[in-house]
Amino acid sequence: MQTGHWLKELGFSDKLVIISDTKVKGLYGDALRQSLTSEGFNTGLLEVPEGEEQKSLQAASKLYNELNNFYAERTTPILALGGGVIGDLSGFVAATYLRGVPLVQMPTTLLAQVDSSIGGKVAVNYGQLKNKIGAFYQPSLVVSDITVLRSLAISEFANGLAEAIKSAVVWDKEFFAYLEENLEEIKLREAGINPAPTDKALEEVVVRSAQIKAEIVEQDERDSGLRSILNYGHTIGHAIETVSGFKIEHGEAVAIGMLAAARISNKMGILDKNELIRLRRVVERAGLPTEIPSLDVEKLIRAMKHDKKMLGGTMRFVLPKAIGEVFITDEVSPPVIENTLVG
Ligand SMILES: NC(=O)c1ccc[n+]([C@@H]2O[C@H](COP(=O)([O-])OP(=O)(O)OC[C@H]3O[C@@H](n4cnc5c(N)ncnc54)[C@H](O)[C@@H]3O)[C@@H](O)[C@H]2O)c1
Repeated sequence: MQTGHWLKELGFSDKLVIISDTKVKGLYGDALRQSLTSEGFNTGLLEVPEGEEQKSLQAASKLYNELNNFYAERTTPILALGGGVIGDLSGFVAATYLRGVPLVQMPTTLLAQVDSSIGGKVAVNYGQLKNKIGAFYQPSLVVSDITVLRSLAISEFANGLAEAIKSAVVWDKEFFAYLEENLEEIKLREAGINPAPTDKALEEVVVRSAQIKAEIVEQDERDSGLRSILNYGHTIGHAIETVSGFKIEHGEAVAIGMLAAARISNKMGILDKNELIRLRRVVERAGLPTEIPSLDVEKLIRAMKHDKKMLGGTMRFVLPKAIGEVFITDEVSPPVIENTLVG
């Protein structure tokens, strides 16, 4: 790990704090700390248990206490070493502790590398309400090391692939073509085969997805327009996750949601059938599901209406016009929605 060297070069303060979850700390915490102490950094290493429940005010409060005990100062950077949960929680703590300390995102899941570490949304949940308390707080630096993805569970890897496919569909048809061409190579790390060629394809996915997210966020940091295209697949996806009682994983639900939105667009006479077929093939080859599971359609629609992306009770969808281009609409007719959700 060369992180210590880079942080030194970039002039970060001599004292810093890593926040990680139990699993990631066990895998990479010591190596990172070692890299930092060997460059002369006084490094604290704080641990939180794994899981979404840690995105809470209680967990944040515990971390504030630990930062106090470490005598953290306004210049003391927080290094968020972990997946999206650690990134969102540590980011929230960094945004609020002493009215803001520097934040370095060190994402270790594919989802975090391609999506959640970029764009500055940090938050904790409030009861059942996801990401209810939060801020826009940009990291000073994002350090993604794709070699850490080798230890990631296949289902977690697929979650990240779903978001990478999303980035391509909403913004970049060339990137989509790259995914079509290289998907098997990108997935090779699943089998534990890690020679350089494999890494190259995966690196391209992380770099290009991060660039796409940055390009979109640069134009609409506060999420008042364009940024909502990143919700493509998520309106229906969240409903599927919720109604399935979270038996269907986030990435799977997003994959199904992306295809459902594409089918809606096709039924409305907008998306060409061939484009729909291309999308279905890529999702399938990524190891993600493509069909709507048999769930209660009324419950799905109710869940979609409750989603925070619904404005004034109307159902707002991000739909593909073509691969690489989406539009936002409130005007999908209820029969088309119901018909699509029946599967
Ligand atoms: N801020 C944003 O813009 C944004 C965007 C998308 C998602 N999110 C948030 O991200 C969270 C989900 O993130 P996630 O999918 O990364 O989940 P996660 O952080 O829970 O990580 C998933 C699991 O993988 C483990 N793990 C992490 N890195 C590993 C590695 N290299 N090797 C082995 N195991 C590893 C973790 O310990 C955890 O058990 C959600 O809370 C979601 O709301 C935020």
